[in-house]
Amino acid sequence: MTDLAPVAAVVVLAAGGGTRMKSKKSKVLHEIAGKAMLSYSVSAAAALDPRHLVVVVGHRREQVLEHLERLDDGVQTAVQDEQRGTGHAVQCGLEGLEHIEGDVVVTYADVPMLTGATLRQLVAVHRSKGNAVTVMTANVDDPSGYGRVLRDGDRVRGIVEHKDATEEQRRIREINSGIYVFDAATLRAGLANLDTDNVQGELYLTDVLTYANGHGKQVGAYVIDDVWQTEGVNDRVQLARMNAEMNRRILDEWMMNGVTMIDPTSTWVDVDVDLAPDVILHPGTILQGATTIGEGAEIGPSTTLMDVEVGPGAQVLRTHGSFAVIGEGAVVGPFSYLRPGTILGAEGKIGAFVETKNATIAKHAKVPHLAYVGDAIIDEDANVGAGTIFANFDGDKKSVTHLGKTAFIGSNSVLVAPVDIGDGAFVAAGSTVTEDVPAGGLAVARGRQHNAEGWVGKRRPGTKWDEAARDSTNTVHPSVIESREK
Ligand code: UD1
Ligand code: CA
Repeated sequence: MTDLAPVAAVVVLAAGGGTRMKSKKSKVLHEIAGKAMLSYSVSAAAALDPRHLVVVVGHRREQVLEHLERLDDGVQTAVQDEQRGTGHAVQCGLEGLEHIEGDVVVTYADVPMLTGATLRQLVAVHRSKGNAVTVMTANVDDPSGYGRVLRDGDRVRGIVEHKDATEEQRRIREINSGIYVFDAATLRAGLANLDTDNVQGELYLTDVLTYANGHGKQVGAYVIDDVWQTEGVNDRVQLARMNAEMNRRILDEWMMNGVTMIDPTSTWVDVDVDLAPDVILHPGTILQGATTIGEGAEIGPSTTLMDVEVGPGAQVLRTHGSFAVIGEGAVVGPFSYLRPGTILGAEGKIGAFVETKNATIAKHAKVPHLAYVGDAIIDEDANVGAGTIFANFDGDKKSVTHLGKTAFIGSNSVLVAPVDIGDGAFVAAGSTVTEDVPAGGLAVARGRQHNAEGWVGKRRPGTKWDEAARDSTNTVHPSVIESREK
């Protein structure tokens, strides 16, 4: 970033009702690409390195304040009890800051696409022109609802609200974004002079521009081409549109940084996700939270990962995972369910229809098919057979199962926790293991096989089974014999 002297204050307006969202949640806490709109506006404001960063709260302020506390960005808050207009909101925001000098920036908390870089550009233009007020404006196809910019060449004479505008003024396509830089003294004087003499009976911040003009101050505009950066979100249709546009921008940036997206239209990547070069994202991939994907890893199709760390070269197919770690070169899926606390080591495998939770699976260890693995510690090279269940819950409390190095669990076994299977130990298929197995031991915990010869002939004479048995020429299939000889 280029050098820019800090501004005196940024005032972020977040007191409005947001009634069109029809939500119990404050409008500014609704998320775009996995982050609250409020968080975007606070980080954009923080890019100006302001001496005071004030968020003006009002409606549903408990929620907003709680969120701000978690952001922990040195934010100050001011309360606007009654929403008497944008001018009144800024008056509230500046309470206790009567002494400040220099630039004061005003922005909204519901304009998530606005970047810190744009705000810095706005301040730079304001300073280089020597303006007392600079308003960010945009030329739009449909200006209805917005304040219109009244100009005299480069000079901005004022802003007229849609509701107050004449037919002729309503034809103006240059709109007020609601984002400004003011000289602090001019702003103070202008705010002190506001009245409610308008259709809405509100204290309009925009009237400060008229005031400044009337007092011989220079008021200019900074026209932004990227109209999205001025757009607010007032309802859920706009929320969805904004989310899609934000996602498109996030994907474009990753593609420019060497990530392959097979189908960007079905790929969603949250703003705080981190992707390494040569990652491939297949259709239907959704990466959320603080997910990170290592170099050359392949994700999807149809995979959702929330706060998952994927190592380089790993493959994750048709998987749902959260709060998990997938090691370098590991293979996961298809149809795997990784719940919180799953840690899969390098070159490890979690295969089809496997659910894991709170399980540390060391490098080269494999759980290839149809298993539930909960509260498990699995050491290197261990192999968990198809259909194995780690019975970690006795209806009252959860307990741990440990599998030693290279331990081999036969198919369809139940390991009743707490239980320890030693290094190099075996568990025979179909066992229900309730006692520890020593290193190198074999646990057989099932009924022994007994063949009742000739049973069909005696008990099912004349049936299709009897017929098949009588016609039988071979005893044991040659492939089975071959397998046995291996
Ligand atoms: C305002 C501008 C208008 C501009 C538009 C851009 C005024 C008088 N008009 O319109 O020229 O085109 O923004 O979106 O300033 N807020 C408060 N307290 C209040 C009123 C508003 O905190 O008492 C906050 C809202 O939460 C919102 C922002 O200010 O974030 C803008 O309010 P909104 O009512 O959407 O804007 P308008 O006044 O219609
Ligand atoms: Ca608005």
